[in-house]
Amino acid sequence: MTMTELILTEEKPEDFSGDLLVCCFEQDKKEKVKEGRSPVGKELKKAIALGDFQGKEGDVLVLYPQFAEKQKISAKRLLLVGLGKQEADNLSATRERCRCCGGTIAVKAAELKAEKLFLCLPEVAGLQEEEVVECLVEGILLGDYRFLKYKKPDKKEPAFQRIKELQISALSSGKGLRRGMLHGQEAAYAGRKARDMANEPGNGWTPTSFAEYAQTLAKKHKMQCTVLDKRDMKELKMGGILGVNQGSAEPPKMVILEYRASKKAQTILFVGKGLTFDSGGVSLKPSAGMEDMKYDMCGGAAVLSMMQVVGIEKPNVNIVAIIPSTDNMPGGSALKPGDIIKHYGGITSEIVNTDAEGRLILADALAYGIEKYQPACVVDLATLTGAVILGLGHHRTGLLGNNQDLVDRLLAAGERTGEPLWQLPLDKEYGKQIESDVADIKNAGGRPAGTITAAAYLQKFVGDTPWAHMDIAGTAWDFTKKSYVPKGPSGTGVRTLIELVRNWKKF
Ligand code: BES
Ligand code: MN
Ligand code: ZN
Repeated sequence: MTMTELILTEEKPEDFSGDLLVCCFEQDKKEKVKEGRSPVGKELKKAIALGDFQGKEGDVLVLYPQFAEKQKISAKRLLLVGLGKQEADNLSATRERCRCCGGTIAVKAAELKAEKLFLCLPEVAGLQEEEVVECLVEGILLGDYRFLKYKKPDKKEPAFQRIKELQISALSSGKGLRRGMLHGQEAAYAGRKARDMANEPGNGWTPTSFAEYAQTLAKKHKMQCTVLDKRDMKELKMGGILGVNQGSAEPPKMVILEYRASKKAQTILFVGKGLTFDSGGVSLKPSAGMEDMKYDMCGGAAVLSMMQVVGIEKPNVNIVAIIPSTDNMPGGSALKPGDIIKHYGGITSEIVNTDAEGRLILADALAYGIEKYQPACVVDLATLTGAVILGLGHHRTGLLGNNQDLVDRLLAAGERTGEPLWQLPLDKEYGKQIESDVADIKNAGGRPAGTITAAAYLQKFVGDTPWAHMDIAGTAWDFTKKSYVPKGPSGTGVRTLIELVRNWKKF
């Protein structure tokens, strides 16, 4: 992976001689752009006077300073970007404006094939400089993403690869500035890693790939990795993941990665659905759009990518990540409607639809993880139901749980990181829909409240442990367009989890 070199510099913007000098401006309350600390006062005034630039969100203007300005600007080009207007006291919205501005910078840099950038840090009302740089860097690096691995390079016109160097003007020399920059960088790289995993097709990213990446992270950051294979699963009687894997030629893996802060610290358990391809099994999905089901591992991708940041930042809380991984295929030995399986821990389940497979693999992982690691709380992420798309579309992730404190922490983390969630109810009455005549429960509850009945299924396996479930089926790809979220998988959930862990307070 080509990385972007980030440099905090005291160099004057005027002296930067690279491809693109970037200045961002807020749209003032009086519709006047604040000049901030920029070297472009006169040009800006002219652009404003002509009505060409107002600092609105998404506003961009490219100038060629040698022609437009007496002042000596050495950069090849000057890019003015709008930050939009301040919403009263809405910190999360302000952070998001910075992220979007970062994304716009990345999109413009790609258009111009600009590899060396210099960013003048703007003043943003209501935000510390540390947060401004964090969100801008996050937006730039997340926006500067493409997946070209399987495409032959065009020899005549080589594709723009990536921003190679980003200098950031550090006028105030605070530690905070560096920390903000690093936080933004780490979150963005984790998001990009999750997108990379998701962009791989079903034959490019397998359960074994999850295992290998977890082992790589374990080595790099001194964490502990355990991979349960089919034999281990049989021994442990994990009938859910084994059942889903029955029709597949690809061996299943239960990937466990542990970060240990200290003996005294609490443990958080994260579980991510790592279904590397969901055909539906014998309850086969329609073929139109089935290729998108390679994204059915986005929960696992988010959890494992978050661990990459945990490894670097070493937060003061123990963390266990579990990714149950297999594909879901029809085949001579595949699970059939009517079959009854027995989950880890002993709960039996009547399979009424083999396409409701996510809850089957998550159930084993939740029950096993809770019994083995006795966590203070559990969060799972999964592309679990089509129903969440009907309810919330492609903007908010569905959130359900048995503990309001945990749910509230996730709601707040999602808001701050621009990955908004929306809580759905989980009254015990919904559990009636998954009662079975022949087994303890059945794996599908019919059309009404599909997202809730799926969560009700998972709830059977968490007991009293505080637990929250994020249904990312609507947000993991086809995400509502944003400058820093290109088409394809979004990497959603990664930043929410990082935020939750970074600010962890005893539960
Ligand atoms: N992976 C799918 C959910 C999904 C569907 C995600 C569409 C993104 C887009 C999941 O395994 C599934 O097939 N769920 C079924 C459950 C039903 C059979 C009870 C669904 O939502 O249709
Ligand atoms: Mn399915
Ligand atoms: Zn699925």
